[in-house]
Amino acid sequence: MEYTCIKTYSLHPGIGAIQIHRPDALNALSLQTMIELVDAFETYDADSAIRCIVIHGSKKAFAAGADIKEMDNADTVTMLERDQFSRWERIRQTKKPVIAAVSGFALGGGCELTMLCDMIVASDTAQFGQPEINIGVMPGAGGTQRLTRAVGKALAMEMVLTGRMISAQQAFAAGLVNRVVPVEYYLEEAFALAKDVAAKAPLAARLAKESVNKAFSTTLEGGLEFERKNFYMLFSTADQKEGMSAFVEKRKPEWQGK
Ligand code: CAA
Repeated sequence: MEYTCIKTYSLHPGIGAIQIHRPDALNALSLQTMIELVDAFETYDADSAIRCIVIHGSKKAFAAGADIKEMDNADTVTMLERDQFSRWERIRQTKKPVIAAVSGFALGGGCELTMLCDMIVASDTAQFGQPEINIGVMPGAGGTQRLTRAVGKALAMEMVLTGRMISAQQAFAAGLVNRVVPVEYYLEEAFALAKDVAAKAPLAARLAKESVNKAFSTTLEGGLEFERKNFYMLFSTADQKEGMSAFVEKRKPEWQGK
């Protein structure tokens, strides 16, 4: 697919990067942008050479939400038929670890997109918010659910009901982001984290990601059972043999992803 709203590139072995690129609209997530994002995520997910994905926008904006200019005249039936949020769901199903590198605005659907990622590296200029209430609606791509799970009811309720943004530091204190770094270094930091993740056994990373995410959709007992089965399953991989032999032989493991 030819991309017009995003760019993809790979500067480091094993890491697939995606940049949202709609500078005139603060990277608003138009329908076309979401189609391209899904394609980029699914392409990287199917590429065995890619072990970690980094998504970012510009210094000014990660993404200022869904494209309001595509929705202002829509009615319920149009919105239902567009089924735009199914694309967020497809991104959520990415099996490889995903890191969001966030600078500037991450609002509405933009904030929701960061929460679909596995880790968030924020620049000290990042601002997170669910401002849909200011335009007469409410979050629709997981904002009321994932934000509440990430930061707790008090802050989520305040953000969703007032539309107020929180700073990168507040987001860090609330547990929404992994780290905050000066804006000059936020991409470098995100790629350093991605390199660390990409250097691990890919199947173990995949099952570990699935297992952590399971904690949000099941009981403790169900989650523990899921975790245990995944743990045992890894003992049928070549990478488990390699990882443990390498430890015993005091050498660096070489992963096959098998
Ligand atoms: N959709 C479409 N266009 C957008 C946009 C959006 N979400 N956000 C910004 N833009 C456009 C502006 O219309 C403007 O375009 P023009 O120059 O053609 O007028 C351009 O980007 C620059 O924006 P501003 O001039 O407004 O920039 P600013 O620095 O003054 O303000 C801002 C920045 C506070 C982020 C402001 O742009 C803003 O409030 N944006 C909307 C944020 C929002 O409400 N997001 C939620 C969208 S709904 C949603 O996401 C639903 C969901 O759950 C998926």
